[in-house]
Amino acid sequence: MSLLTAEIASAGYGRATVLHDVDLEVPAEGRLAVLGANGAGKTTVLRTLSGLTRVEGSIRLDGRELVGLSPYRIAAAGIAHVPQGRGTFGDLTVRENLLVGGATRPSRAARAEADRWMERFPRLGERAARPASGLSGGEQQLLAIARALMSAPRLLLLDEPSLGLAPKITAELFATLDVLCRETGTAMLLVEQNAQAALGIAEQAVVIESGQITLRGPAAELRDDDEVRRAYLGV
Ligand SMILES: Nc1ncnc2c1ncn2[C@@H]1O[C@H](COP(=O)(O)OP(=O)(O)OP(=O)(O)O)[C@@H](O)[C@H]1O
Ligand SMILES: [Mg+2]
Repeated sequence: MSLLTAEIASAGYGRATVLHDVDLEVPAEGRLAVLGANGAGKTTVLRTLSGLTRVEGSIRLDGRELVGLSPYRIAAAGIAHVPQGRGTFGDLTVRENLLVGGATRPSRAARAEADRWMERFPRLGERAARPASGLSGGEQQLLAIARALMSAPRLLLLDEPSLGLAPKITAELFATLDVLCRETGTAMLLVEQNAQAALGIAEQAVVIESGQITLRGPAAELRDDDEVRRAYLGV
């Protein structure tokens, strides 16, 4: 059985419907990339999975229906969301940012877990008591990912983690992401405009255009697809 099975008949905001018939599956510890141009509906997919939109359909995590649950309950069920842009609270310290991610855990366990993250990534540790806004873009993304993993999720939703990062920093961040998800057995649903980076880390991928899925398959096959190469790989 898949970890996540989403059959989104429609989803949107108020009267505006953005997604139509978006079906997604993520196996346990699997990795799915969602590719698409500006405004295609990628963020809306993640927001829908997190319970932040109006949705018709079914979204099941380990067989449990999530549609109708509050965002808090969805997070507690095992879905963590790294939002688009700077997914950190700039005014909070690095430590406080991590502790926000551990809010569903007892505070002692959360503090110990935050310490472990800061030992593992000394750059975060050095800045434990400083505002997160002082970190570089790549460090902020790392902090946002660490914060999401603080809740020990089953599924990590990532919204364009490469946005605004130089290619070398993106490569480093994705390598770290790969290791972290492997170690913790966390599945990944990765939204990206950077198809090169996303197809390098994902197993399966879908392309979304105007709120609908227009292409799906193994990441390796999409990398060789002429249309994907033209539209998203610039080759
Ligand atoms: N809060 C909202 N209310 C109404 N419409 C919205 C809202 N947020 C997004 N939309 C619309 O939904 C569509 C999809 O937006 P979405 O942010 O999901 O796209 P995206 O693929 O993530 O784009 P980008 O690459 O720019 O992040 C767009 O037409 C957008 O205008
Ligand atoms: Mg977006």
